[in-house]
Amino acid sequence: PGALLADKLGRPLHDLRISITDRCNFRCTYCMPKEVFDAHYEFLRHADLLRFEEIERLARVFVSLGVRKLRITGGEPLLRKGVEDLVAMLAAIRTPDGEPVELTMTTNASILARKAEALARAGLHRVTVSLDAIDDAVFRRMNDMDFPVQTVLEGIAAAQAAGLRPVKVNMVVQRGVNDDQILPMIEHFRGSGVVLRFIEFMDVGNTNGWRMDQVLPSAELLARIAQRHPLHALDPTVLGETAERWLLDDGSLEIGAISSVTQAFCHDCNRARLSMEGKLYLCLFASHGHDLRALLRGDAQQGIQQASDADLQAAIAQVWSRRDDRYSELRGFDGAGLLQAVRKPEMFAIGG
Ligand code: GTP
Ligand code: 5AD
Ligand code: SF4
Ligand code: SF4
Repeated sequence: PGALLADKLGRPLHDLRISITDRCNFRCTYCMPKEVFDAHYEFLRHADLLRFEEIERLARVFVSLGVRKLRITGGEPLLRKGVEDLVAMLAAIRTPDGEPVELTMTTNASILARKAEALARAGLHRVTVSLDAIDDAVFRRMNDMDFPVQTVLEGIAAAQAAGLRPVKVNMVVQRGVNDDQILPMIEHFRGSGVVLRFIEFMDVGNTNGWRMDQVLPSAELLARIAQRHPLHALDPTVLGETAERWLLDDGSLEIGAISSVTQAFCHDCNRARLSMEGKLYLCLFASHGHDLRALLRGDAQQGIQQASDADLQAAIAQVWSRRDDRYSELRGFDGAGLLQAVRKPEMFAIGG
């Protein structure tokens, strides 16, 4: 059924983003503010998390339905014990044609320097590193754990050395917080082989107090960059790509602009998200997820039997075929966002 599966808006299922933990060693103010995620916050118990075998099984079913890209996220995925083993299991998955599937990870790189070699050996193809500032003081303030930027840079270098290329660096831009870091980030990464991507600050989750005036629209971002560095647009590489790509005219740096607020890209959004406790989310902003763990494990109380692979395939196909989510486009019509009132999944639960 893989090639034919499409949702209500005709969008195929192509990417699966898998969050493997709700924990993180950073407290980025826009994602896990300390006031909420303090010593009293109850993270999930280990038994509630999908086991690696369960994740691998679901990933295999998703691939049978057309998924061609797997991304491991979190929270901070490198904090999950034995993550290299999961990477090896996912790397072994093949499409019905016997082809490998693209396998990537989004990480804050805090412990990437010691993990990069093992991850590459296990079969990871590349990594995307979240880094919101190159100035050490600004970065320490933004991760709110006083974590130094140097360690992240060592992680990026280790990933490159291990062949996890190209490393992409994601910077969430907040006007008035780190927009003065845009040009220094470009200066730093020119000639490094890294792809640098700027993300418009989004109204994800329920705690980040998002306001439109904190968003730096990509049009303004690009105008600021162009004043200093002449650049030209590159063609899109794959359908449903999040970033518009640009290259500095001297070839020293590829830049991506992810305009999730001002130019929503829902029309060809082909991403499904699996949370650490096995819920399938059809959108970054979906108010609820579909409980695949109950199908995997069965639930006597709910009268749910353990599902076979074929059952899982049918269930996921049915959920996807009914999908009509396009939050970011609707938010646009709605101006400042009446939709902000609905309860949304947290970014660390579904990995961005
Ligand atoms: P590659 O281009 O293959 O590296 O991956 P990607 O852009 O799909 O994944 P990445 O994790 O690098 O995504 C970058 C950021 O874009 C995410 O952290 C989100 O902030 C945003 N993003 C990704 N997918 C979506 C989406 O479906 N909807 C919205 N609104 N934002 C998204
Ligand atoms: N807006 C945009 N991107 C965000 N991320 C986390 N919260 C937001 C937000 N409110 C990004 C992280 C990371 C990825 C997983 O999601 O910086 O790059
Ligand atoms: Fe952790 Fe990433 Fe959230 Fe920051 S944005 S708190 S690094 S999960
Ligand atoms: Fe996809 Fe939802 Fe993001 Fe739109 S808002 S691109 S539908 S995840």
